[in-house]
Amino acid sequence: MPQVIDDPGVPGKVAQALVDCLGQSCVLLDDDVTSRGAGIWRSDHINAKILVRPCSTDEVSQALRICHEHGQTVVAHGGLTGLVGSALTTQDDVVISLERMNQIETINPLERTVIVQSGVILQTLQEAVAEQGLMYPLDLGGRGSCTIGGNISTNAGGNRVIRYGMTRDMVLGLEAVLADGTIVSSMNQMIKNNAGYDLKQLFIGTEGTLGIVTRAVLRCREQVASQPTMLAGLESFEKLVQFLKAMDGGLCGSLSAFEVMWNNYYRLLTTLPATHQPPLAQHYPYYVLVEAMGADSALVEKVLVQALDDGLVGDVVIAQSDAQCQQIWAIRDDVGHAMEQGAVLLFDVSLRIPDMEAYVEKVNAALQQKFPGAINYTLGHVGDGNLHFAIGVGEDSEASREVVEACVYEPLAAIGGSVSAEHGVGLEKKPYLDISRTNNEIELMRCIKRALDPKGILNPGKIFDQLNDA
Ligand code: LAC
Ligand code: ZN
Repeated sequence: MPQVIDDPGVPGKVAQALVDCLGQSCVLLDDDVTSRGAGIWRSDHINAKILVRPCSTDEVSQALRICHEHGQTVVAHGGLTGLVGSALTTQDDVVISLERMNQIETINPLERTVIVQSGVILQTLQEAVAEQGLMYPLDLGGRGSCTIGGNISTNAGGNRVIRYGMTRDMVLGLEAVLADGTIVSSMNQMIKNNAGYDLKQLFIGTEGTLGIVTRAVLRCREQVASQPTMLAGLESFEKLVQFLKAMDGGLCGSLSAFEVMWNNYYRLLTTLPATHQPPLAQHYPYYVLVEAMGADSALVEKVLVQALDDGLVGDVVIAQSDAQCQQIWAIRDDVGHAMEQGAVLLFDVSLRIPDMEAYVEKVNAALQQKFPGAINYTLGHVGDGNLHFAIGVGEDSEASREVVEACVYEPLAAIGGSVSAEHGVGLEKKPYLDISRTNNEIELMRCIKRALDPKGILNPGKIFDQLNDA
C-alpha cells in the first residue's frame, strides 16, 4: 500500500483514507497542489492540503464519504474562471477537481440533447455538438476554460440569455453527490417533468454548497444557417430602450444578443494599446451589438432601415463575413483588456432597464466624489437587465474595494436590483447578499444548507455564513 507522507493527525488520516480508497494517482499533495494556479484571473496559487482527481461519480462519492466521516471541508473545482471567489480554498480544505471527468458521453441529434460529465470544457461541447448539426446556446467569454460543472454551479449566463436563458434553462437533468457521498441521479432527458420537486435546481446556481455535480443532460438546439451580427451607434439611453423593443419585435423572435457598450468601454477597446479596429466612429454615447441567429438578411436590413428612419440609431454596420462578426464580438468580449488597463474591480449587477441610466449616473457620481478621476468602463447584457462595471480608482484599486462596492451596491437597494446578475456570490458579494435577498429568504437558504450538509463541509463560508447551531 502506498504511504502518504503528511503531518500526523487528521489531515494525514484523510489523505491516507483517500489514497487507500482511490489510489495514489487520484490524490495530489503538497507541491502538486500548491503549484497550481488558483484561477485564470488570479496570480496566486491553490492553497489546499489535498487535491482529489476522481474519474467517475462513484469516485466522487467515495471521496465525499471519506471527507464527511472526518468532518473534512471540500471545495469543488472546475475551470476556475469564476469572478467572485467561489472556488477559493484554505490550507485546511480538500479540493475535488472534476478535470478528469471530461467525457461527452452521448450526443443525441434527434432529441437535441447531450449527456456530459461535468469537467467538459464549454467550448469543447459547443464544437462537438456543432459537428452533429446542433448548437449548445450557452456562450461566454470564458468558453475556452470554463466547465459545464462550473457553469451549472454558478448558473452561468453570458451572451445569449435574451433568447435562450441561463444555464438553468439548458439543464434537463443532472447527477450530483451529496455531502455524505449519497449519489442523487436525476438524469431526466425530457423537457417537461413535473413529478414533484425539481431537485436539479438545488444544485444549479448554488456554487457547490449543496452537492457536487458530476454529470448532466443538456438541451441543445438546431444549428442555424445564418448569424447576422451588427453594431449600432446610438445617441441616448432612451433611444437604446426603444431600439431594444424595435429589434425584439421586428426580428420576429430571432434576436439572440443585445449587448451594449458605453462610450468609454468602446473607445478604450478600439484605441491603442487595444488591438481592435473601430467598426463605427467613436463619438456615440452607446454602442449595441445586435445578433439575430437564424434571421435572413432581408429581414435584418428592413428592421435596421426602419430604426434609422425612426432616428433610433445614428449609424450601423452589418458584419459581412464571419471574420467581421468575430471582430465585433471580440470588442465586446475583451473585458480583460479593461482590467489590464487598471480597471480591476469587476461588477455584475442586475436591475430593471428603465432604472439603468439614473443608476449608472448615481454610481459614477458617488465614485467621483470618493475617488476623483475614477474610471468606470461600462457595458452589459442590457437586454437581460445586466450591467458590468470595470472600475479603477488609482494605483491600488484593490485596497479601495469596499468603498467602491458601497458606491455600486448601495443604490441597488432602493430599486430592487441584484448584487449579482450572473457571476454569483461566492466570497466577494457575501457581505451584500441582504441588499438583494430578504432575511427570510436567506434563512430559508440556510435551512436548505443545513438539511443537505449538516456538517457544513461543502464549500464552507461561500454565499452566506452557515449557522451550525440553529
Ligand atoms: C462578461 C463577463 C464579465 O459578460 O460576465 O464579459
Ligand atoms: Zn457577463
